[in-house]
Amino acid sequence: MPGSFPAAYPLAQPLSPATSRLRAEFGDSAASHPSQYRIECVSEVTAGHNVMGIRETSAKHEEGGMVTVDDLMAFLNDFMGDVGDNDPHMANGLQVRGRQEVETLATGVSASLRLFEEAVARNADALLVHHGMNLPPGMLLDTIFTQRLRFLLEHDLSLIAYHYLLDSHPEIGHNVQIIKGLGAQPTEPYGEGGWGWYGEFETPVALDQLLAECEQLLGQVRASYPFGPLQVHRLVALSGKGAPGHAEMEGLIRDKVDLYITGEPHEWNRELFREAGISFFAGGHYNTEKLGVLALGEVIRDRFDVEVEFLDLPNET
Ligand SMILES: [Fe+2]
Ligand SMILES: [Fe+2]
Repeated sequence: MPGSFPAAYPLAQPLSPATSRLRAEFGDSAASHPSQYRIECVSEVTAGHNVMGIRETSAKHEEGGMVTVDDLMAFLNDFMGDVGDNDPHMANGLQVRGRQEVETLATGVSASLRLFEEAVARNADALLVHHGMNLPPGMLLDTIFTQRLRFLLEHDLSLIAYHYLLDSHPEIGHNVQIIKGLGAQPTEPYGEGGWGWYGEFETPVALDQLLAECEQLLGQVRASYPFGPLQVHRLVALSGKGAPGHAEMEGLIRDKVDLYITGEPHEWNRELFREAGISFFAGGHYNTEKLGVLALGEVIRDRFDVEVEFLDLPNET
């Protein structure tokens, strides 16, 4: 169904290394109650990101249904990694500071007044999104920005945004989640800045089957151009507005990419992909960018004893 998500959303892989290691080391009950175990970030770095692991594996969790916004941000800034100069669009991290204690964290794809109102209606203390506040160039606080900021400040609601870092993250990022959700292994970051990922299937998978699985995973495939090999070995995922232009096609041909998955198609994509002999699926900007938010919400729920609720506000993109 367009825009809706299954209640029991099937995450691509075990939710995090922490959860899978809990299961391996302490059994299913530990993995089902991870908040009773202490999970710390270790400094293992993959593709520029810190990847979470377990340092003190058996200590009881110290938090009791609440976390301070400073502790949450210390964890998230470490876990999500360093944005560097990769995101000219918006700040990644705590964009607006609200109340100090976070008992309920709402999550969503895109900041808007409507999403903020939904968060306040659920008594959320903080809201985590992929598309945060686009500060207008030159820090001009225009009408829409001012309305949104006023609402956040009036309700003491923190706004946390991970834009580039949620596209590129090697564990919970949208693109890695798409690749793992289809049963492939992410192999290396794709594109300038590494916003997307390459993935490979150990054994090639039929294109028809991948289309059906993509529809299941993303809720829709709004454009599908089946111009590549019938058996897919290598794919690229670049969520949201990640459809390529002419300049990117040569690299996809050179790298023997069989299938390209993105959110929004460009007008010129069908003929470019036909001529390149590569297949193309566009699953929608919104739907391809829910996955990382959902996966990061699970990581936070595992790490801190807080309520995490995803606010689904689908749109036609
Ligand atoms: Fe994105
Ligand atoms: Fe996006």
